[in-house]
Amino acid sequence: MNNKIRSLSGYFHEYQKSIHQPEKFWSRIAESFYWQKPWDKVLSWNFKDPEIHWFKNAKLNITENIFERHLFTHGDKTAIIWEPNDINEKAIHISYKELFERTCQFSNALEAQGIEKGDRVIIYMPMIPEAAIAMLACARVGAVHSVVFAGFSSSALADRINDCKAKMVLTSDGNYRGAKNIPVKAVVDEALEKTTSVEKVIVYKRTDAKVQMKSGRDLWWHEIIEGQNIKHNAASMDSEDLLFILYTSGSTGKPKGVVHTTGGYMVYSQYSFLNVFQYEQNDIYWCTADIGWITGHSYIIYGPLLSGATTLMFEGVPTYPHPGRFWEIIDKYKVNQFYTAPTAIRALQAHGLEPLEPHSLESLKVIGSVGEPINEEAWHWYHDHIGKGNCPLVDTWWQTETGGIMISALAGITPNKPAHASLPLPGIQPIIVDSEGNELIGNNVEGNLCVKYPWPSMIRTTYGDHKRCKDTYFSTYPGMYFTGDGAKRDHDGYLRILGRVDDVMNVSGHRMGTAEVENAINEHPKVIESAVVGYPHDIKGQGIYAYVICDMEGRSEESLIEEIKDTVRKIIGPIAKPDQVQIVSGLPKTRSGKIMRRILRKVASKDVSNLGDTSTLLNPEVIDEIIKGANIK
Ligand code: WTA
Repeated sequence: MNNKIRSLSGYFHEYQKSIHQPEKFWSRIAESFYWQKPWDKVLSWNFKDPEIHWFKNAKLNITENIFERHLFTHGDKTAIIWEPNDINEKAIHISYKELFERTCQFSNALEAQGIEKGDRVIIYMPMIPEAAIAMLACARVGAVHSVVFAGFSSSALADRINDCKAKMVLTSDGNYRGAKNIPVKAVVDEALEKTTSVEKVIVYKRTDAKVQMKSGRDLWWHEIIEGQNIKHNAASMDSEDLLFILYTSGSTGKPKGVVHTTGGYMVYSQYSFLNVFQYEQNDIYWCTADIGWITGHSYIIYGPLLSGATTLMFEGVPTYPHPGRFWEIIDKYKVNQFYTAPTAIRALQAHGLEPLEPHSLESLKVIGSVGEPINEEAWHWYHDHIGKGNCPLVDTWWQTETGGIMISALAGITPNKPAHASLPLPGIQPIIVDSEGNELIGNNVEGNLCVKYPWPSMIRTTYGDHKRCKDTYFSTYPGMYFTGDGAKRDHDGYLRILGRVDDVMNVSGHRMGTAEVENAINEHPKVIESAVVGYPHDIKGQGIYAYVICDMEGRSEESLIEEIKDTVRKIIGPIAKPDQVQIVSGLPKTRSGKIMRRILRKVASKDVSNLGDTSTLLNPEVIDEIIKGANIK
């Protein structure tokens, strides 16, 4: 297949080309796609404003590159295998031709409901093929999709709708997840009480749950597609037209809408997919992410479908109805590439080897990890028991903002090293800098991870607030993109990601800003002030620890703690619920009023042997109280 690296020397050769002649390198990769009109210039950029244009003035539609480009060769090939939550429900195989027709049909339906190029459409749906169709149909008509993870609360959903002024919401009546049946439509109804921009809500019938349909606003999916043509002329998009917005947490309170555009994202999602996973035409590929996250966008939908791959979509959860479900699915479909998160690995590892016994897993060729640093114990368990010691394990480092995998082994081509993301993909120029922004050259160095040259799928802006994009990513170290992660280059030259250096936690592979959780806690009427930190957690990677000052009058600690947890669940969603809440009478603050989080992090980690310099504290006496309250011996 085009653009695929097949040897270690090939990797080094391509990497050098990509660094020395980036425009030539990327134009050669891009030539294998179908462009309605070619570009005038491959790249123009500055990281000061920032302003980044890839494939300037080219015209294309990403779905033509998924469908029309491939139909002659693999129209009958399975595009999506869908495995339902319930093992007794029938799985579905959708061919490229059928997916194309259903996408076109839904595209026509969207247009009939008033959706035009540039409109924002929220997708708040379970992991069902219609969610993929929804994304592809938006891309086909030129609407900008913003998928919101269906576990987010109504108020988190409302914030996102308001931020991008969405015109439409695509949802379902309910969502089967494990033993639960989540009333998704009811969450949308509640969110829409706090928004004004949404004109239509399209509801897919998945669970037959009883729902309220508001007349004039709410329509059934199956009714609006009735009679719609299965042919559709794709909208002509500029390479830099918006493809999607995806909200993610940062160190300030409000999630930001990361903007990805069409041409560069298309080129990089396919290129990185093919090379990292070394996908071959008859392989079955499975990524266990949810489409609500960037991993689902780039490596369930766009990367695989642009490559003509068969991508498996799983509706359920790893442990339902039994903890061997993932392994059962791998054997059932003879999955060749399996891509999951360390948190899932650790959770399944905790069930021991018994759930693995009935399964051979012999089809696996490549296993992958994403979302958080993978600790060595989990790495070895995954490598030895799932990969049976003979599958390359690709530890892929990247971010919502990077759009695609940046640092990773290429399966079977570049070497594997436990807990190391290893080497950058061609075209990616990561550097490690000290706190002043000086590049740390050579091996055995540790610092903050930046990228010094643009790559095609990078963030273009944060929706509606370009200054925020500049301040967050391009101002800390002028002239560079700052990732927010710490990294080390070891004595062999391999990169190891050390985790966030800002106030962002990584809880079960989900990004969560400490300020975002604090804002939610502070909504509780009895809360006066709060401070949230992450702490090491065996399964989740990081757990959420909240220190809270409350007005205790007439209240017990136990009931307040439960109410505070519940408040966060309601305001953000279950993924943000604190694991620990400690009621305190004060927070350690410097004379300038800043909370000394370093101390709070140490207490939460139960590591208080060396608290460092506390001489600048205004109220050192609270430290003893906090340590005592945390039950540290
Ligand atoms: C972390 C997920 C170590 C990192 C694709 C990053 C990782 C954040 C890895 C982005 C990895 C992701 N090793 N850390 N292989 N992959 N991270 O936006 O801290 O949800 O900044 O994107 O996850 O999370 P996001």
